[in-house]
Amino acid sequence: MAVASFRGLGRTKRAAFTGTGAYLPARRMTNADLERMVDTSDAWIVQRTGIRERRIAAPEEATSDMALHAARAALADASLRAEDLDAIVVATMLGDRLVPSTAALVQAALGAPHAAAFDVGAACTGFVYALAVGASCVKSGLFRNVLVIGSECNSRIVDWTDRNTCILFGDGAGAAVLAAADGGEGSDILDVELGCDGAKAGLITIEAGGTRLPATPDTAAGGRHLLRMNGREVFKFAVNIMCHMLVDMCRRNGIALDDIALCIPHQVNYRVIEACCERVPLPLGRFYLNIDRCGNTSAASIPIALDEAVRAGRLARGDLVCILGFGAGMTWGSALVRW
Ligand code: UT7
Repeated sequence: MAVASFRGLGRTKRAAFTGTGAYLPARRMTNADLERMVDTSDAWIVQRTGIRERRIAAPEEATSDMALHAARAALADASLRAEDLDAIVVATMLGDRLVPSTAALVQAALGAPHAAAFDVGAACTGFVYALAVGASCVKSGLFRNVLVIGSECNSRIVDWTDRNTCILFGDGAGAAVLAAADGGEGSDILDVELGCDGAKAGLITIEAGGTRLPATPDTAAGGRHLLRMNGREVFKFAVNIMCHMLVDMCRRNGIALDDIALCIPHQVNYRVIEACCERVPLPLGRFYLNIDRCGNTSAASIPIALDEAVRAGRLARGDLVCILGFGAGMTWGSALVRW
C-alpha cells in the first residue's frame, strides 16, 4: 500500500481547488425502464442499491464529449482560459478510442495548446489517482494550472442482459481545476492514500479487446467485451476499504472524524456507504450522495458529486473534505482536501 503525505515534502506550492464542473447526459433511464429490459424490479434496485435513475449518453456522445462539457464548466467556474492550462488529466475506464488518449481529444476540442494531456486508468478510483498526479505536478512547481477530469460512458460496456450489473451504472463527467498557490492556509490537497491489490483483479474485469484477448467476431458475439463483476465480493471489499481509508486518513493527519465537514465517496451503492457510516461511525448526513439520481458513474462519480456539493452550498472555504474512492484493480484512493 502506498501512503503519500504531501506534508512531508516541506514547503511546497498549494494545489488549490479553483473551479469545478459536471455534465450529465439528458436521457434518464429509470428503474421502470430496466424492468422492461431484464428480470428486476424498482423495489429490488432501490432496496439493494439506492438507485432510482441513471443518465445514459446519446448515441453520438462519447467519453471526450462529456469530459469537454465538464471541463468547460470547471474552467468557467475557475475564471481560467483554456490557453492557460499546463496539463489535462482524464480519468476513465474507456476512452473514445484505444489510441490516442481521451485527454488529447479534450485538449484539442478545448483549445488548450500549452497543455500536456494524458489519461489515468484506475477504474472507479481513477479520479483520485488523477488528482494525486495533478497535485504532485502543481506542488512540485512543474505545472501551474491542471485540469483533472473523470468521464465515463459506462452504458457502452454494460451487458444490458445482465441484471447483476446493468442496473448499477450510469454515464457522466466531472472536472476540477487545480492551481498553484503560495503558502498559507488556503485551499489545498493535504494528503493522499493510493493503493492496489492486484491479486483481486478478477473481481471486476472486461476480458476481451486488449492484448491478452484481442477483438474477434467470436469475442464480440460472446459478449466478452462487456463488464463482468463479482458484486458480492466487491461489496465487501468496498465497505472494508472505505472504512479503512477514512479512519486512517484522520489518524495520519491528527484530526478527529468530526473535523471532516463532508465526505465525497465513490457513489457505489447506498448500502456500502450506509454500512461504512455505521461501522466508522459517522452520521450519513456527513456523506454527499447522489447515487439515487446518477447511479455509479465510475471515475466520474466523485467529481460529479463534488461539483454538486459545491453548487448545493455544502462546502465552505476552509472546510476539510475527505474524498474516498475504490474500483477495479482492485484499487483504492483517498484524499484529504482543505476546500
Ligand atoms: O464501482 C465498483 C463497481 N461495483 C459495484 O458497484 C458492485 C458492488 N456490489 C453491489 O452493489 C451489490 O453486490 C449488488 C447490487 C451488485 C448486488 O446486491 P446484493 O445484495 O449483493 O445481491 P446478491 O448478488 O447477493 O444477489 C441476491 C439475489 C440473487 O438471487 P438468489 O441467488 O438469492 O436467488 C440475485 O440473483 O438477488 C438477485 N439479483 C437480482 N434480483 C433482482 C441480482 N441482481 C438482481 C436484480 N434484480 N437486478
